[in-house]
Amino acid sequence: MHGGMPGEARARAYSTPLADLNPGDPELFRSFSFHPVFERLRAEDPVHWCKDSEFGPYWSVTRFNDIMSVDTNHQVFSSDADLGGITIRNARPGHHRRPSFIAMDPPKHDAQRKTVSPVVSPANLMLLEPIIRERMQRILDSLPVGETFDWVDRVSIELTTQMLATLFDFPFKERRKLTYWSDVATASAKPGEIIETEDQRHEELMKCLEYFTHLWNERVNAPPKGDLISMMAHSDATRNMTPMEYLGNIVLLTVGGNDTTRNSISGGVLALNQNPDQYDKLRAHPEFIPNMVPEIVRWQTPLAHMRRTAVADIEVAGKQIKKGDKVIMWYVSGNRDASVIDKPDEFRIDRERARQHLSFGFGIHRCVGNRLAELQLKIVWEEILKRFSFVEVMGEPRRVLSSFVNGYETLPVRLHA
Ligand code: HEM
Repeated sequence: MHGGMPGEARARAYSTPLADLNPGDPELFRSFSFHPVFERLRAEDPVHWCKDSEFGPYWSVTRFNDIMSVDTNHQVFSSDADLGGITIRNARPGHHRRPSFIAMDPPKHDAQRKTVSPVVSPANLMLLEPIIRERMQRILDSLPVGETFDWVDRVSIELTTQMLATLFDFPFKERRKLTYWSDVATASAKPGEIIETEDQRHEELMKCLEYFTHLWNERVNAPPKGDLISMMAHSDATRNMTPMEYLGNIVLLTVGGNDTTRNSISGGVLALNQNPDQYDKLRAHPEFIPNMVPEIVRWQTPLAHMRRTAVADIEVAGKQIKKGDKVIMWYVSGNRDASVIDKPDEFRIDRERARQHLSFGFGIHRCVGNRLAELQLKIVWEEILKRFSFVEVMGEPRRVLSSFVNGYETLPVRLHA
């Protein structure tokens, strides 16, 4: 079982010359050695310039309040895909481009966001709650007790995929396609990974578009209903999207509603295993679940960063950012900023102001699905506690090779009745 900050990673983070620190290196995330790098940057160079990397040059904003100031200044810090988009890896030019409203600035962003938000409104969430609970119960009741199995595959992926299929009204039996396309969209294109080249990514996602175009045509010719595709097909803001815009929004909702919640479900199991006193407290006080949920989302920070491109020169914490520069807001670092969050490396299910974290972003792009994500996590833990005394982690998780999706490929566990 790994601890919070392995000594070796720490030594490396502090012995590398400051100018050479490249916190966006995906290997740091696969090997879980990023925390000491950010700890050092927050202390010594909170707005850090990396002059070269596999993603080109970029700024890292690492402190809580500086991240807030960038995230809420969309006039200067653009999300536009044409300028590079919202992740450290530049958006793909030309025919591989998939525009979506997370990678747009106002006014187009605002209009498209308005179209999808009703599906996660409080009223709709109340309708969804019993469906989520019923599906969760079925998944948990099918799990083997006393045997080691992969929590990521059998619980985290299964639940979020079922949820997504519900939101899209996607053919239920084929729902694992959604998991696959989500993985395709976010994987690093490298030999040995699920996709090896950008061309291959494009080919796979065109199959996704074809499938969803079929669903669109079905819904656009039928009366409007409450699923996301029907809502997009019947709304003024979205009915004339180009096919690539449609694909962009599908991928956005798939990744948004899938990977992030998936990794929070796994991250919670890991956090409680690493902090047995907190697990004991939870068993004795299940009423802490609603407070534990945002603490899990902070502790895990399922999306390590969002990226912006400066459209004007601007100073941030004493550093001169130039028009055109790539700026990475490291939520995963801001969430461990001790000047804002008390003892941030500790996982505390009864933390005060647990919702004060950056994991959902801030400003006009703040996560649309945050209440839905919290609802799913609340139900998961309520139902787990009713059934099992202990979800025991049996070995090291395998972490995703990405400095964007901060999560797990596998997590071996054993259930105790
Ligand atoms: C724990 C789970 C989740 C996390 C950590 C998360 C995180 C984020 C973050 C960091 C952003 C960008 C914020 C910014 O740039 O300021 C975002 C935006 C977004 N999220 Fe989530 N998300 C989660 C769950 C969901 C779910 C369940 C859905 C789908 C229903 C969803 C849909 C979206 C969408 C559509 C956007 C784009 C909003 C915009 O650009 O206006 N997310 N999310």
